[in-house]
Amino acid sequence: MFTRRHFLSTGGTVTALGLAGAPAILKAQSWFLDYPFKLGVASGDPAPDGFVIWTKLAPEPFAPHGGMPLSALPVAWEVASDERFATIVAKGETLARPELGHSVHVEVSGLEADRPYWYRFKLGSDRSLQGRARTLPRPGAPVSALKFGVCGCQHYESGLFTAYRHLAQEDLAFVFHYGDFIYEYRYDYAYDKGQPVPKVRDHRLRALYSVDDYRAHYAQYLLDLDLQAARARHPFLSTFDDHEVENNWVSDLVQNGDVPPEIFALRRQAAMQAWYEYMPVRAAMIPRGPLITANRAFNYGNLVAMNLLDTRSFRTDQPCGDGFKPHCPGVSDPKASVLGQAQEAWLDANLGRRDATWTCIAQQIMVMPLDRRRYADEKEKILNLDSWAGYDAPRNRLMSRLGKIDNAVVLTGDEHQNFAGLLYDRDKPVAAESVVTSITSGGDGQDVRPGSDTMLANNPQLKFINDQRGYAVCEVTPEAWKTHFMVLDKVSKPGGTLSRRATATVPRGSASLSIG
Ligand SMILES: [Fe+2]
Repeated sequence: MFTRRHFLSTGGTVTALGLAGAPAILKAQSWFLDYPFKLGVASGDPAPDGFVIWTKLAPEPFAPHGGMPLSALPVAWEVASDERFATIVAKGETLARPELGHSVHVEVSGLEADRPYWYRFKLGSDRSLQGRARTLPRPGAPVSALKFGVCGCQHYESGLFTAYRHLAQEDLAFVFHYGDFIYEYRYDYAYDKGQPVPKVRDHRLRALYSVDDYRAHYAQYLLDLDLQAARARHPFLSTFDDHEVENNWVSDLVQNGDVPPEIFALRRQAAMQAWYEYMPVRAAMIPRGPLITANRAFNYGNLVAMNLLDTRSFRTDQPCGDGFKPHCPGVSDPKASVLGQAQEAWLDANLGRRDATWTCIAQQIMVMPLDRRRYADEKEKILNLDSWAGYDAPRNRLMSRLGKIDNAVVLTGDEHQNFAGLLYDRDKPVAAESVVTSITSGGDGQDVRPGSDTMLANNPQLKFINDQRGYAVCEVTPEAWKTHFMVLDKVSKPGGTLSRRATATVPRGSASLSIG
């Protein structure tokens, strides 16, 4: 039945010879020459009665098909109400299919709301490590506190995943991942103070085009045990940004070179398939062609309504050829769109409901239209055209909607720095935005990047800038939303020390921000 060289036996037994006193027949240790659960486990997209549990079989992660046979294999799973698996509350078997790279996505349901669970997988006699997941409170249930993590932008070559080791030790209900889970290119060299220096570590592949390229690339990231630790410990709410496909792509348009849309669509489809295979998300997110419906909502009782956005798939082209540039006519194009019509209508409807005290928009690109000037010789105001700042019409629509609701917070990634500030509808503050730094992208960094004083002076709505690596922890109560910016002193060497660099506090009932 199974003929690949690494696939030993389907009989489940081997004959033991020469072991005095041992039984004549022993159970086989494994179907495989190597351990099939090397890429770890994960959970995600929690609901009040369950969550997704994930793994991917790959005894040889960089071999074709991860070293798996060309057939679907049954994987057993179980969920327990205790860490020792004394009480199994749900179990079953699911097929790991070669079409999906032998990934496993089980949508567990029928569980109790608002509590932790533990899960694990088994294939033959091989068992995965165990993960911990957590259900959400019921919609509308009175909730007095929520703590969750925010992270993303994890270029493997730029640093070690130390931040994930620390994130794994936090007490969190879930983690929002804003994207750039992988980077699709390899740095050819690294500099420090003008001198060539060794990179912290190397991508195996220099560029990614086929689904097998993307699959192998995710495998390289997930062989990092710090990343595995965080995914095994917390349910993730996963979204993607640009580098899951290609730098600064939007819709069916590449930004680097003149690749025809129909050719780029093939690469995007391969990238999206690999993204789906590796993320703990529901089957509703299987790509249709190159499209994944990634916008979705999560309610945490009566405390927080989370709206996750996709700011890449439906966006109109960046104006004026993209980049950091002065305002140009394209920025005020009334037909420009960031979310596309359907997603914008969906967000509009969600923002119109008042299900919870706090409304959170969890997305990728900065909403504050900051003046990016850092140097005295820059005369004209400069915008990041790949952010909402390059899209006046949709940004103004979003601001006017936020102006109609209380207690709105926007969470953002992409910038590889921490920022906290306020969003305005004309001259009225309507929400607070916390831009969360990268896990590694940008390298060690520094507390204050040169020119940050100029940026703070030029942007009165901006209250905080920091240029170190790490993640954020949001601590929410009915009275206040606190975003703690957690930073590492270094990611270039093991043993980075974590500290809370600052906390941005938004009080209930006022679109204001204090930094402590
Ligand atoms: Fe990034």
